[in-house]
Amino acid sequence: MSQSDSSQYTWAGRFSEPTSDLVKRYTASVAFDQRMWRQDIRASLAHATMLARQGIISADDLAAIEHGMAQIVREIEAGTFVWSLDLEDVHLNIEKRLTTLVGDAGKRLHTGRSRNDQVATDIRLYLRDATDDIVALLTEFQRRLLNLAEQEAATALPGFTHLQVAQPVTFGHHLLAYFEMTRRDSERFTDCRRRINRLPLGAAALAGTTYPIDRKLVADLLGFDGVCENSLDAVSDRDFAIEFCAAGALLMMHLSRLSEELVLWMNPCFGFITLADRFCTGSSIMPQKKNPDVPELARGKTGRVYGHLTALLTLMKGQPLAYNKDNQEDKEPLFDTVDTLTDTLRVFAEMIPGITTSPKRMRAALLQGFATATDLADYLTRKGLPFRDAHAAVGLAVRRAEQRGVDLAELSLAELRELSPLVDDDVFAALTLDGSLAARNHIGGTAPTQVLAAIARARARIPGSER
Ligand code: ARG
Repeated sequence: MSQSDSSQYTWAGRFSEPTSDLVKRYTASVAFDQRMWRQDIRASLAHATMLARQGIISADDLAAIEHGMAQIVREIEAGTFVWSLDLEDVHLNIEKRLTTLVGDAGKRLHTGRSRNDQVATDIRLYLRDATDDIVALLTEFQRRLLNLAEQEAATALPGFTHLQVAQPVTFGHHLLAYFEMTRRDSERFTDCRRRINRLPLGAAALAGTTYPIDRKLVADLLGFDGVCENSLDAVSDRDFAIEFCAAGALLMMHLSRLSEELVLWMNPCFGFITLADRFCTGSSIMPQKKNPDVPELARGKTGRVYGHLTALLTLMKGQPLAYNKDNQEDKEPLFDTVDTLTDTLRVFAEMIPGITTSPKRMRAALLQGFATATDLADYLTRKGLPFRDAHAAVGLAVRRAEQRGVDLAELSLAELRELSPLVDDDVFAALTLDGSLAARNHIGGTAPTQVLAAIARARARIPGSER
């Protein structure tokens, strides 16, 4: 195995032979942690500012560090920065370049700090931004969902239990169920952000530092709500990242449910909706095909997000205090979770306005399923029959309608009166789809007026969503 010179490692002083190339490749994280370069530089600048204010480094050193970092930002943005595997990770790559650019001031940056508190800080900054992006994308998705729900506030859709026609619901009401799910998702991310937003820097390697640092100042400069209060905990735990992935797994679970419904509804046997062509693909062999790839993929990608959650839980399990190299494995699952959530929300927000509905097909499906049977039972109950007796009587009516191949509303008054003499000609109002929908008129019910009221409440909670 070829050995190369590792004397450029900042930590190589105590080593008598160079690190093997294989080990370098095995232990390096720069290929994937370089995406945190902005956070790394931002945190370094805050640290350096604090060091200067506390008289730990000079004002000239701070100026040199700021100057060098500005140059590094330009290089990375221009794509001319050379990332080196020999320098292991994003932190050492940037620090080394800084030292090349500004000399000793660059070497003083790491005073009172360790890569252990540095990496924990970078991840928290990164995840805080990612959380804000995800909440904003979720909000945009919800706005569009509300617009569609408003448009379909009175559209009758077969409500299913056991995937069999159960009772009529409005399509708007059905969509609002996903609004509620994603509202809780949004709350979970916002709540998780409070625990992400704590500063580890100052914990140094694990025990804190001997320099007279001001952690509160660094926290303020970086927009953290406060500092991590135990140095061992600060450098080692990744529970905030696990929590983020758990919130992500729940969000994907909800989107996978919606995806499944979109796929079913688009099947011509249902024909309830079509997705805009730009969200579908064709088949290389079957010319008639228009496949709902986007919801299918979202359903599939849910699996990888669950996997990342399990990976991170397993990564942390049984780790002794404090930092262990194991933790370097937190990044790829976390980053892929962020990418998957971001992409999925973006494409869903785009897809929602591209949904065309077929209220005729929804209504036709409802009329095949005796969806107003419960309404007939409720009608008889209102007239004085005990509900269980009403349930049995309507069962007979369903059997009769099925034999004749008609809907309950198509039975004659005489036939219905055979069930019970309590039936009057006001029964037909209860048996129609619109009558059934309008009757469920309470908070959380499917009546079109309730759907509109729910949309108004939802819009009041979401800034910028009033129409
Ligand atoms: N690349 C490392 C990580 O991602 C940075 C911290 C390394 N610390 C250390 N003492 N080796 O976790």
